[in-house]
Amino acid sequence: MNTENSLNSKFVTEGSWRADLFKGKVAFVTGGAGTICRVQTEALVLLGCKAAIVGRNQERTERAAKEISGLVKDEDAVLAIADVDVRSFKQMEDAVRITVQKFGRIDFVIAGAAGNFICDFANLSPNAFKSVIDIDLLGSFNTAKACLKELKKSKGSILFVSATFHYYGVPFQGHVGAAKAGIDALAKNLAVELGPLGIRSNCIAPGAIDNTEGLKRLAGEKYREKALAKIPLQRLGSTRDIAESTVFIFSPAASYITGTVLVVDGGMWHLGTYF
Ligand code: HXC
Repeated sequence: MNTENSLNSKFVTEGSWRADLFKGKVAFVTGGAGTICRVQTEALVLLGCKAAIVGRNQERTERAAKEISGLVKDEDAVLAIADVDVRSFKQMEDAVRITVQKFGRIDFVIAGAAGNFICDFANLSPNAFKSVIDIDLLGSFNTAKACLKELKKSKGSILFVSATFHYYGVPFQGHVGAAKAGIDALAKNLAVELGPLGIRSNCIAPGAIDNTEGLKRLAGEKYREKALAKIPLQRLGSTRDIAESTVFIFSPAASYITGTVLVVDGGMWHLGTYF
């Protein structure tokens, strides 16, 4: 387990949240075996939630489920649903059915599965652009749509995972920026359409989060030194920062918040450039 990107019981005993905040709740998380969404899941589970994590890679998804379950010493706390591609609505429907068979309900949805690579516009093939749009945007749509019936029953809450790239132009990230802009739009649209059903829909937009695959690929090792000049709060973000905001959004404290993109980036995007 990567301890830099993992929570432990101190999150409950020394943290800001009540230990049983999410007791009886169930989360459905795509990308839950990845870095950011995994720690989001850890936080929910440490606060009493059960979770299903959905991923493409069987070994990775099952290992993550086992490790997150281990945090609460309950091997049934997290269900791994592997060999699922968010681009397939049918596979997402099946994953939702398996989750409900196991846990009986879905209260929280994190649509976090994402694909990314660095590529300039001149070399970006139409299929490469489409692949990222399909994983990030269509995948988010499929996730929310497959969960809709359960969210109606639970009056639940959806959290999409966006970015800040599309607030300005970030070189070599046109495909991702376009997809994330669509995700923001989708989150706002669902807030308006599903609000009357008691369902909240929000987005979280992480900034530069330390020790993540995305940041390593995008910025390389030199990024850390440059960051202080670019981030008003004078530090890179942590996966815990994203997890804390996730807990807030799903908590009753945020019950009047919907259609919001919560930017968690230390104030970085206000400087108007990523690098
Ligand atoms: C240019 C590339 C490329 C690259 C793939 N392609 N990698 N083009 N540069 N590095 C092109 C291929 O040539 C092909 O186009 C098309 O993309 C589809 O490639 P496939 O490999 O067939 O697609 P697929 O197997 O579906 O893989 C999707 C993927 C891959 C996005 C390309 O990287 C992936 O599965 N990633 C998931 C994991 C991941 O990326 N996680 C990071 C998330 S971090 P042609 O024309 O040849 O057919 C994140 C946060 C960002 O998103 C924040 C950063 C700070």
